[in-house]
Amino acid sequence: MNNVVIAENLGKCYGSLRALNGISFAIREGECCGFLGHNGAGKTTTMRMIYGLSTVDEGRLTIFGRPVRLTPPAIKSLIGIVPQEDNLDPDLNVLENLEVYGGLFGLRRREARERARDLLALMGLEDKTHAKVNELSGGLKRRLVIARALINRPRLVVLDEPTTGLDPQARHLVWQKLRALKSEGVTLVLTTHYMEEAAQLCDRLLVMHEGAILAEGSPRQLVERHTLPWAIEVLVLLDAIPAGLADKVAAAGGEALQVVDGLFLYATDGEDMWRRLDGWGVPPHACFLRPSNLEDVFLKLTGKGEED
Ligand SMILES: Nc1ncnc2c1ncn2[C@@H]1O[C@H](COP(=O)(O)OP(=O)(O)O)[C@@H](O)[C@H]1O
Ligand SMILES: [Mg+2]
Repeated sequence: MNNVVIAENLGKCYGSLRALNGISFAIREGECCGFLGHNGAGKTTTMRMIYGLSTVDEGRLTIFGRPVRLTPPAIKSLIGIVPQEDNLDPDLNVLENLEVYGGLFGLRRREARERARDLLALMGLEDKTHAKVNELSGGLKRRLVIARALINRPRLVVLDEPTTGLDPQARHLVWQKLRALKSEGVTLVLTTHYMEEAAQLCDRLLVMHEGAILAEGSPRQLVERHTLPWAIEVLVLLDAIPAGLADKVAAAGGEALQVVDGLFLYATDGEDMWRRLDGWGVPPHACFLRPSNLEDVFLKLTGKGEED
């Protein structure tokens, strides 16, 4: 399988702040690869280097087989960009936003218009063709930015938090469009701090924290490797939790994890641990047993859960 992007020991400092701490990863052709992390983890910094808005000062970045320091226009023309902040032109209507962007890639007016109309249809924005950008909801704006990212028929699309701030309905619509893109063979790289988005869309995830990659794998592999299969959420106030509970859980082969004021118990055999709760002084009626998921992995790896 071909790698579209290869990063080796990529580092970045902003003054005295070390935003990226020598990360290495590869993005394979045709996959949807997700960077998962809290605010400040270094996701946007990484994306901006890939799409050529930030220089590679440390380490090596190879895009479409070519080592780059600042991704040059010839390679940028193979990439579609959905930046974290929508940067649509408010003075132009929906169609014009796409046409003008197409012009930046050297498309003739007529071709830009044809592509723009096709993309508006693809993203379900046809009835907004002549609307002003400021009249669009957050979800529609996001879909327009995705449409715009496709005007140059990119082979790689980089999406920085494609659905942050959208309501669940709008988010599902964006996911549907991204799945359609992927089925056409476009390679997708996205960042998110939504576990559900990561689980629903991504073939492979890189968990980032404080400028480093902590884990890599498919959503399922991450759950299998980094947490026990069952989780019990203990829904009581922390000061009502019996002393020494974590030790008892550990002695039973499980793990206890406190995240701010929440307590999670992990077990290989969830029902077995459930039956022990009463004896440990934890009222089972205040507990909830469920299979472990990506959120558990994320909380365990990045700890605390204090940000966001
Ligand atoms: N242009 C910049 N100047 C100074 N610090 C920056 C700049 N861009 C990002 N940072 C800092 O670098 C770190 C990583 O930021 P970023 O890559 O935006 O993380 P994320 O996208 O995961 O939230 C943060 O601490 C952020 O404040
Ligand atoms: Mg960011």
